Amino acid sequence: MLPSREDSTVSQLKRPVSLLCAALAGLLISTAATTADLTEAMRERLKPAGELCMAGEDCAGAPVVVAASGPRSGEEVYTSKCATCHATGLSGAPKIGAPADWTARLDQGLEVLYTHAIEGINAMPAKGLCMDCSDEEIKASVDYMLDNSK
Ligand code: HEC
Repeated sequence: MLPSREDSTVSQLKRPVSLLCAALAGLLISTAATTADLTEAMRERLKPAGELCMAGEDCAGAPVVVAASGPRSGEEVYTSKCATCHATGLSGAPKIGAPADWTARLDQGLEVLYTHAIEGINAMPAKGLCMDCSDEEIKASVDYMLDNSK
């Protein structure tokens, strides 16, 4: 009978075909995974600008310059802002380290000195031109000058 020959052909074919199928399935799965990765990457790149993190932005982990926390010391403010005039007596500014320059001014009372330092008086500019200085920082720098002018 012939059917037996057909059987053997089928069984001969079965093994390679099933191997091929397994290989194809594996290929499909790996292709699918790659496609998913690419889709994700593309979706990431096509995000609206608001959601994207551009290079140099905080969210990109770029170094962020944070304003020094806490108030600057009287010495820091004096050195960076007030010394320009008060170290040399420029425009008639009372000099640091010259007690005589301060005696008459101190007679007005400390609060007046603070107020003049914050609001300015004559050639003394408001806040000594330190526009980002808080009132407290200005007062601390006045204290620093007075402490060093005794
Ligand atoms: C551009 C120059 C200049 C800078 C900068 C400056 N000062 Fe003066 N300052 C003056 C002059 C000039 C006077 C004298 C003003 C007057 O009495 O006519 C003065 C006076 C003062 C007085 C005395 C005020 C009074 O009532 O007698 C204080 C206090 C003072 N400055 C604090 C400061 C402090 C604090 C800073 C820095 C934060 C500063 N100044 C920066 C020019 C300056």
